[in-house]
Amino acid sequence: MRIRKAVFPAAGFGTRFLPATKAIPKEMLTLVDKPLIQYAVEEAKASGLEEIIIVTGMGKTAIEDHFDTSFELEILLKERGKAELLKRIEEVSELVHFAYTRQKKPLGLGHAIGITRNLINNEPFAVFLGDDIIDAKVPAMKQMLGVFNKYRGSVLAVQKVPRSQTHMYGVIKGKKVGEGVYKVLDLVEKPKGKAPSNLAIIGRYILTPEIFQALGVTEPGKGGEIQLTDALRILIKTQDIYACEFEGVRYDAGDRIGFLKANIAFALKRPETRDEIRRFLKGLRL
Ligand code: UTP
Repeated sequence: MRIRKAVFPAAGFGTRFLPATKAIPKEMLTLVDKPLIQYAVEEAKASGLEEIIIVTGMGKTAIEDHFDTSFELEILLKERGKAELLKRIEEVSELVHFAYTRQKKPLGLGHAIGITRNLINNEPFAVFLGDDIIDAKVPAMKQMLGVFNKYRGSVLAVQKVPRSQTHMYGVIKGKKVGEGVYKVLDLVEKPKGKAPSNLAIIGRYILTPEIFQALGVTEPGKGGEIQLTDALRILIKTQDIYACEFEGVRYDAGDRIGFLKANIAFALKRPETRDEIRRFLKGLRL
């Protein structure tokens, strides 16, 4: 039961980032010089995943173009002798194998995953929400695959957040079963009262194919959307679900503040931008 496929739901409207996301998909906003979604695709590849299924929607063609070959651009770069840039462009289209499917209406994350059923074909699979950027020594998904291989159940990525922020996340109630590993006893989407813990679900999942049956009987929740958390609550009645508290720094780049922090952090890591950005930040009179 090796995991080969990864689903990237990318059909949301990205309302938190308007007006930037009116005509540009949120996933194509740039972190230093690469679109957000490419970081997650590179994480998938570095974790050994081979096939990426992107769920797109209206106005998302830039994502397909980005991962496609760009014949004209490649010719131009060759003619101008820009070998380094040419290599970087070619690398993008050669990353992994891509398939696309379209969610006709944004009926929720659960619905977006549900429509990949025929492409997944009865095997466990990974899910990446591309606006969660995780900077980690060992790719976060690779850490989760280690948990899956040991416990053989669905795995949710979790991270401790301040209690004051639990209302913004899906939160688990868990029992520790190993270093950074919890057996999930219950999960609550955006808890209003006291949250069951401070372990928040982050945008990486490993799901068993039984999630599709659960999604099929999940009632639409707020705004008519089918929530993945509701389907997981159905699944947990018949299968164990685990949570992996991954090691790494996570940025919510689908939100303005998280996006800006990620840009600064990544610019300070990259050798070509590090010194100048450091000088600039030091010179700011805050
Ligand atoms: P979000 O909750 O972040 O929604 O979706 P969003 O539309 O992208 O952004 P905001 O909150 O309005 O700013 C979580 C993930 O699920 C996908 C999104 O593309 C994102 O990756 N999604 C959401 C879908 O693919 N389809 C949907 O119907 C809803």
